[in-house]
Amino acid sequence: MKHITAITEMQEFCRSLRREGKTIGFVPTMGFLHDGHLSLMRTARAENDVAVASIFVNPTQFGPNEDLDRYPRDAEGDAMKCAAAGVDVLFLPATAEMYAGAPAVFVTVEKLSEVLEGAIRPGHFRGVATVVTKLFNIVQPNRAYFGQKDYQQCAVIRRMAAGLNMGVDIRALPTMRESDGLAMSSRNVYLDPEQRRKATCLYRALSAAAELVRAGVHEPEKVRQKMRAVLLAEKGVEIDYAEIVDPDTLVPLDRMQDRMVLLVATRVGSTRLIDNLLVL
Ligand code: PAJ
Repeated sequence: MKHITAITEMQEFCRSLRREGKTIGFVPTMGFLHDGHLSLMRTARAENDVAVASIFVNPTQFGPNEDLDRYPRDAEGDAMKCAAAGVDVLFLPATAEMYAGAPAVFVTVEKLSEVLEGAIRPGHFRGVATVVTKLFNIVQPNRAYFGQKDYQQCAVIRRMAAGLNMGVDIRALPTMRESDGLAMSSRNVYLDPEQRRKATCLYRALSAAAELVRAGVHEPEKVRQKMRAVLLAEKGVEIDYAEIVDPDTLVPLDRMQDRMVLLVATRVGSTRLIDNLLVL
């Protein structure tokens, strides 16, 4: 596996691959890799001639009181995991390489970025859309791989790629979970054993709500109430939102429809956890 840290080198390398007619599959990450990330990398490996992954903890997507400074890192372990997942090129830019001086150019996806996570983390999706645009311009992938775990992020990136004619096929892959249902996340490492046990309430809330939907409940409000009840049954879990929305617009539903997505966001102690389930 090749390591690249300079933008110009990465750009040159990918440009020459594209000239040779090779397809590039790209997986952007912030590192501290788990099986969710690795499933994206394995798929990128299987579907393309060359698999590129990046590890960059992107400061522009963190709010002032968020965990940028303590975001977990494991450079050596991550490199070994990427190699084992079949990554050909690992791009590891320094912050000063990605953002020289104060950033002045941003990509904003309106509407989709303003609700749910965007309402609670102002500027978050602007940071995500900006860094992903920069990474796409550097790597020039044919396909890019994202996890449904971050449902709204997938929606924002799809809209961005389509709206700016980026010519990158955005692929969203299923959420990888621990055996008790907890969605894998780099942030799970912050949880102490008691919090770790409580954290299963996100998936339990989603599953209970999906069950209600399948049983034919008519009112979206009942579904929200169910999720809130399951989450609040765990002491020390605070709810940011528990929603049932349209899968494309992310607008909260006032009546049931064929396709819907359930989304929950909580704080367990000081750790923010999100999860979602698509109900068809
Ligand atoms: P990060 O949280 O490291 O996640 C990188 C990718 O892995 C994202 O597409 C995310 O949705 C996916 N992922 C995370 N947990 C997953 C799980 N349990 N199952 C499947 N996929 C999972 O998301 C980011 O980084 C950043 O916002 C980034 C897109 C890299 C821009 O900075």
